[in-house]
Parts: sequence; structure tokens; C-alpha cells
Amino acid sequence: MRVIACENAHQLGDVASELILDLFVQNPEAACCLPTGSTPIPVYQALVEKIRTSDIKLNELKFFNLDEYVGLGVHHNQSYAYFLFEHLFSQINVDSSQITLLNGLAADLDVECTRYNQLIDAIGNFDFVMDGIGVNGHIAFNEPAEFFIPRTHISAIAPSTIEANKRFFAQDETVPDQALTIGLEDIMKAKRFVLIATGANKKAVIERFFNEPEITTQFPMSFLRMHPNFTMILDKEACGSRYDYFRNHVGEIK
Ligand code: GLP
Repeated sequence: MRVIACENAHQLGDVASELILDLFVQNPEAACCLPTGSTPIPVYQALVEKIRTSDIKLNELKFFNLDEYVGLGVHHNQSYAYFLFEHLFSQINVDSSQITLLNGLAADLDVECTRYNQLIDAIGNFDFVMDGIGVNGHIAFNEPAEFFIPRTHISAIAPSTIEANKRFFAQDETVPDQALTIGLEDIMKAKRFVLIATGANKKAVIERFFNEPEITTQFPMSFLRMHPNFTMILDKEACGSRYDYFRNHVGEIK
């Protein structure tokens, strides 16, 4: 695993976007699975800016989303599809045929999960997956649980996640309690996984990851320890007391 410690969220946006841009150059046909939330916003801002000032070709890239709220469609401003269009797809030159999204309004959610799995199978494994981290260690919407469902599935959103995500919704709106999410199998098979975390409210979960060596479904993030190509990009606040250590150990960290 590699840890890149940044001074702040702005620098994290710069570093993470550079990494994505590099991937686009190395592999113009890359299949990327992308996150939502507050953490990736500076990443997309920087990425859009860099794409605009480069002559990079985007027309063969493929984009997927990690997860989606059940009951919210692409036109709902809290859906993850809406978010990705707002912050990325509408800002860069990509065609809708390059974008595959989970449909939170599907009439049959099991059929929707199967459809998504088949589309992932059609591209092989993801070349690149990026995600933020839940305060309880959830990855995408793989919440702490007795067991994991390996592929795309319907997930019950943990009460603490509903609480954490309330801030995005209007006061009279209810945060959905179910989501569709890709599973840990597709995350672990991704050729590269990048986790981004910023702010003091992520310090505890990052500390837990380094303090608790056990791999357990009760702490989904712990599985990333086994990922063969895992990079964490953290800002100073999320690093907590390990900031100086990470700054001085830019190579592999065990
Ligand atoms: C949601 C998403 C996760 C994301 C998390 C962090 O719950 N399902 O994929 O990692 O939010 O969000 P934020 O970046 O806003 O802290």
C-alpha cells in the first residue's frame, strides 16, 4: 500500500487528479469506477481543469459509478448519477455511451444488479476504482456486516451513514435507507484502488485502519489491506498523528 499525505484538500485534488490523468494517458481505454460525496469534489474540479487545458483523448474511456441510492433517479439532485454529471461528465467531452450508471429507480432491483454485473463482466475488471471512506469504514455502500455480498447488490445503509449523509439533503427530505453498490469482489479485482480522505472527521477511521490489523467484515476498509495495488491519498487532518511519518515514507507502507 502507498500513502500520499497532502497538506490540504486542495493539494489532494491536485495529486489525485494528476494520477487519474496519468491513467487516461497510459490507458486511453481504461474502465473507471468513480465515487461521489464531498471528498472527490476538489479532485473532479482539478481534473476538469487539467483536461480543459490538455489535448488528452477521452473518447474511449469507460465510466461507471460505485453506488446509488435506491429510489433516486438521475434527475434527483441527491442521486449519485446527478452528482457525477454535475461535477464531471457535463464538464468534459464524453459521450453518454461511455457512461454506465446504476439505476436507483429500476423496477426490479435484483435485475438491475445483474445487469450491472454483466456490464462489469463485459469490460473485465475495472482498471481504476476511486472511493472516499465512510466514517464507519464502509466502502461504496458495503456497510459493516456479518458477511459481504461479493458483487453488485442491494445494501441496507447503516444508521450512522444515513446520519452522516443527512447534510446533503434538504430538511424535509428523507435519506434513502437502501442503496445499490458494487461489491468487495469487484473492488478487490480492480487493477488499482485509490482511497481519498480529507478532514478531521476521517481521522478516527484512518487511525482505526492502521491500529487494527485484523481483516473483518465489521470494518470493510480493512479488506483493502489485501489489495495488491492500493493507494491512499489523505490530507493532513485525516492523517492525524501519522502525518509526518507518511510525509517521510512516500514508498510502500506495511
Ligand atoms: C457515501 C458513499 C461512499 C463515500 C462516502 C464518503 O456514503 N456511499 O462511497 O465514500 O459517502 O462521503 P464523503 O466524501 O462526503 O465523506
